[in-house]
Amino acid sequence: MGAAGQQSLAGDRGQPRYDGVSMGKRIIVAIDGPAGAGKSTVARRVADRLGFTYVDTGAMYRAVALWALRRGVAESDMHRLEQLASEAEIEFRPGSKTVILNGEDVTEEIRTPQVSAAASTISALPGVRRALVEKQRRMASEASVVMEGRDIGSVVFPEAQVKVFLDAAPATRADRRIWELSDRDGAPDAASAARDLEERDRRDRTRAESPLLQAPDAAYLDTTSLSIEEVEESVLKLVRERTANGKEVMR
Ligand code: DC
Repeated sequence: MGAAGQQSLAGDRGQPRYDGVSMGKRIIVAIDGPAGAGKSTVARRVADRLGFTYVDTGAMYRAVALWALRRGVAESDMHRLEQLASEAEIEFRPGSKTVILNGEDVTEEIRTPQVSAAASTISALPGVRRALVEKQRRMASEASVVMEGRDIGSVVFPEAQVKVFLDAAPATRADRRIWELSDRDGAPDAASAARDLEERDRRDRTRAESPLLQAPDAAYLDTTSLSIEEVEESVLKLVRERTANGKEVMR
């Protein structure tokens, strides 16, 4: 991966410190939660502070959904969708929001309401999940990561040293979503953004395969009335506690 990942690799030898975190071994910071809880913003900032690689797994499901939509693959064609998920080359440009699918910058295109809905649907398919989880595990074998999604602490890395479940009141999550989309063409109105979010949440929480779930050992953080800086500091504090001298300090 990029520069951020390479920095953390040095931790295997030189034991550098990033923001008070001693880097003796690869570290996985798993951040899960529903849409609009603040995961992306916080995960990116924490990764920056620690010099870890940031992985947005939602963007991976979105990239596969975009590819499937372009190819006209039916949502029922599980075999073909699994194949696309497995063949997709997905990269993240360190220090930016850029998402690359098969060499093409798809950063903007994967955020449309149509792709959001398709990503939520295809992410319920076991074959698609299998293929993307394999890529996610490979990424974390190459560098310390801050990885955000729905099942990172529960399924992808049950052994992650740091697990955080971010949540916020539904109205706050809908507001954040609207704000996020407000500078795009065809941004949805408040009512339809809230409806979309609710529908997506319902699907993500109730699907049979890897539903959105708080791992029993994840720290729960309600971000409704917290600033980004406060959430960032809470997560960094947890990272420091749980990685101190390689010992887990559970609070
Ligand atoms: O975080 P996001 O809204 O960009 O995610 C897009 C969709 O992918 C969302 O409906 C949930 C799904 N997803 C998932 O099932 N598992 C993940 N680890 C990440 C996202």
